[in-house]
Amino acid sequence: MSPRQRPLVFERWPALEKSVPWMRIAESPTPVERCESVEPFTDARARSVDLWIKRDDLVCERYGGNKVRRYEFLFARAKALGARSLYTLGGLASTQSTATAVLGRALGFDVRLVLYNQPVTTFAREALCINAEAGAVMTRSSNFVTAAARLAYELARAPRGEAFLIEPGASSALANLGYIDAMLELAAQVDAGECPRPDAILVPAGSSGTLAAIALGARLLGWDTRAIGVRIAPRIATNRVTIGHRVRSTARLLARLGGADLRSLRGARWEVMQGFIGPGYGYPTPEAIEGMHAWQTLTGASGEVTYSGKQMAALRALVRDPSLAGKTVLLWATLATRRPAVTEASRRKVPREFLSVFDGPTEC
Ligand SMILES: Cc1ncc(COP(=O)(O)O)c(C=O)c1O
Repeated sequence: MSPRQRPLVFERWPALEKSVPWMRIAESPTPVERCESVEPFTDARARSVDLWIKRDDLVCERYGGNKVRRYEFLFARAKALGARSLYTLGGLASTQSTATAVLGRALGFDVRLVLYNQPVTTFAREALCINAEAGAVMTRSSNFVTAAARLAYELARAPRGEAFLIEPGASSALANLGYIDAMLELAAQVDAGECPRPDAILVPAGSSGTLAAIALGARLLGWDTRAIGVRIAPRIATNRVTIGHRVRSTARLLARLGGADLRSLRGARWEVMQGFIGPGYGYPTPEAIEGMHAWQTLTGASGEVTYSGKQMAALRALVRDPSLAGKTVLLWATLATRRPAVTEASRRKVPREFLSVFDGPTEC
């Protein structure tokens, strides 16, 4: 497939183009590949599972991962509204914060991040250095609630009309068009014979926009593919109600702005795999640490335990599901393996209030 210059959702629903701003950030289509290198970890071939990966880790040269396709819509909307600053919050290791810092700054936005404490890992340290190097203004908070309060305070003080809020997880209906678009891209790759149609797609599920859009995309395509999310965030954030809300709000947006037939969007199905989060969001578990190493074997870049490590741990369990024998499973890579290099100079730019994060050893 040739590189895309406009989203496939605009081709499918031309009315969308008139009302939805978009800017190109993703370098797509991203490759689809067989997952041979992690055979010793997954044991997929022995269980007759045909395992593939969709390489959204490579979706942007500056910083990949599952925020990029969403930001093509969100950043374009911010620009259309005349916003100059992007505000968001996340954990210390939040990839959403880092994607906002790296991609937002490169596009000329000021970026303000409120980051709350989570287990300190090498990846969290790296994220702070990348954010600082990109020029994001960072504030530290103790937990999600205090971070939300701090962000509200900062937004209230921002010059009128200049601030654009990216909600935690960046899973608004508008943002989710990015992964509907990604599903249309995957369908084109299937049609071109680059990979088989997957019987199951596995993603980490936090704010669940990725899972919701994949489920909706499968429904639109008429695929009976199982959309499976590995829960990596607390139940209060990731559950049937929150995921159902993401699906319905995204479907309604497509119907309202694009003219899609709402009936054709009803009945999107998804599943959630439980039992991999461990003590909580961002906490290492022995399975996630093993998964993190498998991720590195698969992609060539270091992994982490919040998302990709738990996704790999769940993959290993999923492959053992007897109903998937003889079927195709697609691991959708959501973590950036393309990330800016971290230097001692970037570490020196990290604000003082974060320096304790760099004290002592980390578990992983
Ligand atoms: C690497 C990675 N994978 C998966 C997710 C979860 O995606 P979602 O919030 O759409 O559920 C995130 C969320 O930040 C992420 O950073």
